[in-house]
Amino acid sequence: MILPIYIYGHPVLRKVTTDINSSYPNLKELIDNMFETMYNAEGVGLAAPQVGLEDRIFVIDLSPLADEDHPEFKDLKKAFVNARITKRTGEMSSYEEGCLSIPGINENVPRQDEIEIEYLDEYLEPHTETYTGFTARVIQHEYDHIEGILFIDHISAIRKRLIKSKLANMTKGKVNCHYRVRTA
Ligand code: NI
Repeated sequence: MILPIYIYGHPVLRKVTTDINSSYPNLKELIDNMFETMYNAEGVGLAAPQVGLEDRIFVIDLSPLADEDHPEFKDLKKAFVNARITKRTGEMSSYEEGCLSIPGINENVPRQDEIEIEYLDEYLEPHTETYTGFTARVIQHEYDHIEGILFIDHISAIRKRLIKSKLANMTKGKVNCHYRVRTA
């Protein structure tokens, strides 16, 4: 089922989410719905607050980006439950990001190149993994969401001023995109 995506200005996007427990109802169904919602909106990641939930869950799927140069993306359809980034290392680099909750805005965001993350998968099996490069970036973007942080929080004051009126419009419910949304 495709869920509406919550847009900038909705307070749920600023909530620090909480861990789920093993009796969480219909976890697999929620994760399937999150993937379906993400594909429909043509994203590579989606976090629970973006579908209105204050739960520590996000999904990514980089497999559509797999090619000869990046065969590793093929296996990167994953759900992250109760995730904690335990290490951030490596160089800082900037790369353009966007967000399904902030449609029409793309900005360069500085992030560290390597992370270690502990999480449960959709079957609540624990994992500890290290990611680098673009994958580490996508995971950090989604991880920010479960901490109530948005990518525009990482941009300069000048860049932020330049997008201020677009953000104000979103907060007022004026948003133009091809998927179903919910505004504040
Ligand atoms: Ni996002």
